[in-house]
Amino acid sequence: MMAKRIMARCDELARHSELPGGLTRVFLSPEQRAASELVLSWMRASGMRAHRDAIGNVCGRYEGERPGLPCLMLGSHLDTVRDAGKYDGMLGVVSAIECVDALHARNKRLPFAIEVLGFGDEEGVRFGTTLLGSRALAGTLDLEVLKAKDAAGTTMGDALRASDLDPARIPQLARKRQDVLAYAELHIEQGPVLEAERLPVGVVTAINGFSRLRATLHGEAGHAGTVPMRLRRDALAAAAECVLAVERIAQRHAELVATVGRIEALPGAINVIPGEVRFTIDVRAPRDAVRAEAVAAIRGEVEGICKTRRLRCEVESLQDFGVTACAPWLMQQMDAAVAAEGVAVRRLPSGAGHDGMALKAIADIAMLFVRCERGISHNPAEAISAADAETGARVLLRFIENFRTQER
Ligand code: GLV
Ligand code: MN
Ligand code: MN
Repeated sequence: MMAKRIMARCDELARHSELPGGLTRVFLSPEQRAASELVLSWMRASGMRAHRDAIGNVCGRYEGERPGLPCLMLGSHLDTVRDAGKYDGMLGVVSAIECVDALHARNKRLPFAIEVLGFGDEEGVRFGTTLLGSRALAGTLDLEVLKAKDAAGTTMGDALRASDLDPARIPQLARKRQDVLAYAELHIEQGPVLEAERLPVGVVTAINGFSRLRATLHGEAGHAGTVPMRLRRDALAAAAECVLAVERIAQRHAELVATVGRIEALPGAINVIPGEVRFTIDVRAPRDAVRAEAVAAIRGEVEGICKTRRLRCEVESLQDFGVTACAPWLMQQMDAAVAAEGVAVRRLPSGAGHDGMALKAIADIAMLFVRCERGISHNPAEAISAADAETGARVLLRFIENFRTQER
């Protein structure tokens, strides 16, 4: 029975939070460091060598039949969104450790090493741009990102140093393709498909692409009591139109989703006309062309609304990631592991982003989804059953034990 400890560890990790009574744990925060220490201790107890790397990822390594073999990389992320659930990310890290623990308990070594990664940033909540930990490993992280600032004005470089990490060492984290045989991640589905089909797990085919943008609207602040309506340049009223335009554009295409998830009105007082508004836009689709078209349409609408209202605006692109396919040879091995557990094989795409998007630059990727209650995620109500956690971990363990590298 692997699930008992998996569920208990997800609960334990959830106690490391910025908010009392809820879960918020962002990249490089003191609570994330404490959670990382806990994960390091679990990795070591399961026979792994483990350390926190220069960007704050937690890395554990279980050697194969002899030291220094290429690895099968497993993992997920340890950061969370604001007011998060306790399984998004953590379940994958904790389940992977449990699989290594099962091998270690039997003193079993495989013809490859296993590395378990707990990525420091997948959500991108703190600095706007995401997949920072996995991009560092993939060698695709542009170090310009060290200048990115969080809401308090702290740069990522300073945040790393405050967490006793040395940004100058980040380039050395890049892995070589020949050292990573594949990357496999277990994650909650974060959607309703598996539950509707009464299946505990599913095999992911591809991860939808995403674009992240930030819009800033510059109007004119003024007295809420004195400025007549026709003379106002209210940045928040304009932003409200923009938010509805984003929603309307996303509704044009069944494949498309778009979200304004954060908005700030400045200076932010009941009796002041908002002079400046900043908001984020997140656009996703299973086809890159559909997403690109939507992003262009959103930009056009925001500019048009601002022009009509005599506002100046900037729409900045924070990040774009194309659709990322899982490798057929790995999907087949994952299917076989699912079937061997007596579960019907169901393949499905991922609407959410995952670290595999970044790791695809150095390795083929696979993902296993675990059913979650009513598809709810990015919400404290996120829930899974212990039975499904057990099935997920057992499938992952079978996948690991039967893993064969691709014939090249
Ligand atoms: C991560 O959860 C994302 O898809 O934004
Ligand atoms: Mn998430
Ligand atoms: Mn996640």
